[in-house]
Amino acid sequence: VRADADWAREIRALADERDAVLLAHNYQLPEIQDVADHTGDSLALSRIAASSSASTIVFCGVHFMAETAKILGPEKTVLIPDERAGCSLADSITAEQLRAWKAEHPGAVVVSYVNTTAEVKAETDICCTSSNAVDVVRSIPADREVLFCPDQFLGAHVKRETGRDNLHIWAGECHVHAGINGPELAERAAANPDADLFIHPECGCATSALYLAGEGTVAPERVKILSTGDMLTAARDTGARSVLVATEVGMLHQLRKAAPEIDFRAVNDRASCRYMKMITPAALLRCLREGADEVHVPTDVADRARASVERMIAIGK
Ligand code: 13P
Ligand code: SF4
Repeated sequence: VRADADWAREIRALADERDAVLLAHNYQLPEIQDVADHTGDSLALSRIAASSSASTIVFCGVHFMAETAKILGPEKTVLIPDERAGCSLADSITAEQLRAWKAEHPGAVVVSYVNTTAEVKAETDICCTSSNAVDVVRSIPADREVLFCPDQFLGAHVKRETGRDNLHIWAGECHVHAGINGPELAERAAANPDADLFIHPECGCATSALYLAGEGTVAPERVKILSTGDMLTAARDTGARSVLVATEVGMLHQLRKAAPEIDFRAVNDRASCRYMKMITPAALLRCLREGADEVHVPTDVADRARASVERMIAIGK
């Protein structure tokens, strides 16, 4: 299947027939992003899913994102073009592991990154995304213990920003972001002394970037730890002519569209999420033709998970 003008026309016509809204995460293939009704980060897309009047949501992203849309709109039909599109970060904690962790810390508030299964969300007090994690943790009274899962690098970022000692962090990671490492970043930053650094907080190199700033290797004002959505806002505002981007490479498409005059380069151009890339032009076409794969979340799990997702939507930008 070629993602040409005929393909795009057929996708749009099928979406209209199904009364479907097409949502695409910033890590999707460029052609998928361009045919979608909305692109964005996980928080923005959850908000759009929650407020959309369409009866069907086609989620071009990974499975936990489609599940979140289903939790927020159980009466809607939620489709994902390939249900095998998982997430290594979501796989790094199970509901059973979280229950055992909670038992070790009675009374703690559980904050889970949205990159988790519906079962984990059902054991969670408040979900967060990378764009509102700091605000979510700040909303919790200072004397309460917090269990933060599953991403250790986002957890370290939140701990740094909030200065909270009573924040416990699960040791999970995303294989794509963990692979963007400190030495690689240091080398690229040294070779591009005028470039800004846009770094996703899931990256293994986020701590190194702040270290480089601290020791004076990189000017501190050049280092920006940002969610994918916030990278787009920063791209419109930065005065820099070039930017090194530490996140999944799909992000470069939206950044280049938002600020064509800036030279955006990946810190690691092998940082591609194979799950995100399972949403191919052929998979999207099949999805709209056949109404598959449909995402189901058991009612009892969705009912228990909903409050934590709704709190996430209410907090932060
Ligand atoms: P955001 O879109 O919230 O920045 O998340 C990044 C991510 O890894 C989603 O899979
Ligand atoms: Fe999950 Fe990482 Fe892929 Fe995002 S980039 S979907 S966190 S595996």
